[in-house]
Amino acid sequence: MTTTATLNEAVEQIKEQVIAWRRHLHQHPELSFHEEQTAQFVYDTLLSFGSLEVHRPTKTSVMARLIGSQPGRVLAMRADMDALPITEENTFDFASKNPGVMHACGHDGHTAMLLGTAKILSGMKDRIKGEVRFLFQHAEELYPGGAEEMVQAGVMDGVDVVIGTHLWSPLEYGKVGICPGPMMAAPDTFWITVLGKGGHAALPHQTVDSIAIAAQVVTNLQHIVSRNTDPLDNLVVSVTQFVGGTTHNVIPGSVSICGTVRSFDQQLRERVPALMERVVKGITEAHGAAYEFKYEFGYRPVINDAEVTRLMEEVVVETLGPEWVDHIKPNMGGEDFSAFQQKAPGCFFYVGAGNKEKGIVYPHHHPRFTVDEDALQVGVKLFVNAARKIVM
Ligand code: NI
Repeated sequence: MTTTATLNEAVEQIKEQVIAWRRHLHQHPELSFHEEQTAQFVYDTLLSFGSLEVHRPTKTSVMARLIGSQPGRVLAMRADMDALPITEENTFDFASKNPGVMHACGHDGHTAMLLGTAKILSGMKDRIKGEVRFLFQHAEELYPGGAEEMVQAGVMDGVDVVIGTHLWSPLEYGKVGICPGPMMAAPDTFWITVLGKGGHAALPHQTVDSIAIAAQVVTNLQHIVSRNTDPLDNLVVSVTQFVGGTTHNVIPGSVSICGTVRSFDQQLRERVPALMERVVKGITEAHGAAYEFKYEFGYRPVINDAEVTRLMEEVVVETLGPEWVDHIKPNMGGEDFSAFQQKAPGCFFYVGAGNKEKGIVYPHHHPRFTVDEDALQVGVKLFVNAARKIVM
């Protein structure tokens, strides 16, 4: 009989090992689609456990299969492995050794937690009914993302349930964020170029001022959320880049704008490009300018299955206690975990990894981001106990 208590004890026995893996990965971060050394490290470590079938579904991803001694369901667990183009400002001794690249989102911790889970479960093969599949995913941070590539490579074939987690620093250590239904938004991207006519800043009447026109485009794009869509729908339109001009006395011929659109509802999502282009076309035409407009749909929204999420909440209560459950609100961030959820009912959840007392307060993607390493064993405990519930 495998109990929560015995599993939790097994996790505590390897917690230093999990922290060591995380620190090794933290020192050697690699960018999206370039996780060569990371994938090799994961592959070699998984092989050392024995009893796993280890595969390389794509160039920089790894999949391990733990096939139980009896038939049953297939449970997939996912960790992302990529880092970001950020210069680390942390000074601890395991800070990044790869200049300009940093694990500033906690994916080093995700990889370490899933390695720890694989280590423990690989010693329990005879107790597994069905299969546990460990998905070490490349390129979460960069569209089109690694998840979709792995799905195309067949890693979700036959999977009945998929779970994944994110170490989350806005959530304090001691909490696990659970959210049934829509949890994270679809992140889409747009690019606009306002094409005016450049000239001398003292003779504006001889130009078509792309700066003044592009500024109106930005202002009027705000109406899409505030005036053109249902206030009860969730939508974000953010202009994040505005580039034009070279000096104080020249009106530039063009201005480039780009930004992000976030939504949950597919119908609303599909309406947005036309609403945006109507604004861009109207404003530029009104002032005698032309435009270019490009729009790209990104990841699908993360929508958690009600039943699997209920089950994960039970796992949290049984493994850690009811006080750990935090029923969080959805947020407008994006995550390509959604690609796996297209193939099987799934649940994505947050493990609280912030800790004000320890000074772990910086947001994700910040040069001083880090996680409370005590959260690593929380993630492993939840993964192994989810396996206990689903495939034992
Ligand atoms: Ni992340």
